[in-house]
Amino acid sequence: MSSIAFIGGGNMASCIIGGMVSNGFVPEQIMVGTPGESARQQLSETFGVTTMADNHTAVSNAAIVVLAVKPKIMREVVEDLVPALAHKPIIISVAAGIPVSALNSWLGAQMPVVRAMPNTPSMVQSGATGLFTQSSLATEQRALVDKIFQAIGYSCWVDQEALIDAVIAVSGSGPAYFFLVLEAMQKVAQELGLPQTTAQQLSLHTALGASRMAIESGISAAELRDQVTSPGGTTQAAIKSFQQHGLEDIFRSAMTSAVERAEEMSKDFSS
Ligand SMILES: NC(=O)c1ccc[n+]([C@@H]2O[C@H](COP(=O)([O-])OP(=O)(O)OC[C@H]3O[C@@H](n4cnc5c(N)ncnc54)[C@H](OP(=O)(O)O)[C@@H]3O)[C@@H](O)[C@H]2O)c1
Repeated sequence: MSSIAFIGGGNMASCIIGGMVSNGFVPEQIMVGTPGESARQQLSETFGVTTMADNHTAVSNAAIVVLAVKPKIMREVVEDLVPALAHKPIIISVAAGIPVSALNSWLGAQMPVVRAMPNTPSMVQSGATGLFTQSSLATEQRALVDKIFQAIGYSCWVDQEALIDAVIAVSGSGPAYFFLVLEAMQKVAQELGLPQTTAQQLSLHTALGASRMAIESGISAAELRDQVTSPGGTTQAAIKSFQQHGLEDIFRSAMTSAVERAEEMSKDFSS
């Protein structure tokens, strides 16, 4: 049985491995190469996966290698790994800002490369991942990549690499936007007289409920908003205020800034 190897056993690798093990991947199939002894011990105790300090051994029988180290050491890690990749596994990089061209040039040989941009809610298997490849993956290879990222939430493919920067601006950085909105709602709810815990729980459950309602109904956000906005009512008063303050432009400016920053970061690695 060929394995799935992770290079780097930190936060993102743990999230993905946790989701995989909870969703039917066999722990014995998962190898992790990572230097820290305590991280290795924790991963093997928590998930039953095989861990090792030697990256070459970790990838030796892998059909897929997930690169989950920090971007700044990616080049050194990949170049060191090359002699152990003669069997040409699929390489998945979850690193922010490293373009496929840089990965291809560090890898030297032609092998399928996928860029994946997961986000932090992957930790609770409610992640959103954007995937991109310019390699021609066989249907079963693509399905296996999908299965890995669907184990930690929703995943989809984009057909141009530049769109990974848009994914970063939407779902990569997106959790923080919602945390910011929740922070503001909780603060104002307290100013309106609600106790802290009540303010917090009402805001959190409203966010969860709105999101579940939109996902489960399949109805567009605009239509759902329309349905709950009666003319002359309280919601309409609040929405009107958001619109007068230019909410859409605020998001446009914020998300465009995220895209610009992602483009700048990619330039550091472009070969
Ligand atoms: N966290 C996120 O929300 C998120 C989202 C999307 C993408 N990403 C991407 O995911 C990647 C990992 O991020 P992270 O948050 O998981 O970072 P992290 O927790 O610091 O994990 C990186 C891991 O790499 C290990 N490592 C260091 N040198 C290594 C080597 N030579 N060989 C193998 N492993 C080595 C580290 O071990 P030691 O700690 O022992 O040094 C650590 O376990 C980054 O490229 C990041 O851009 C993260």
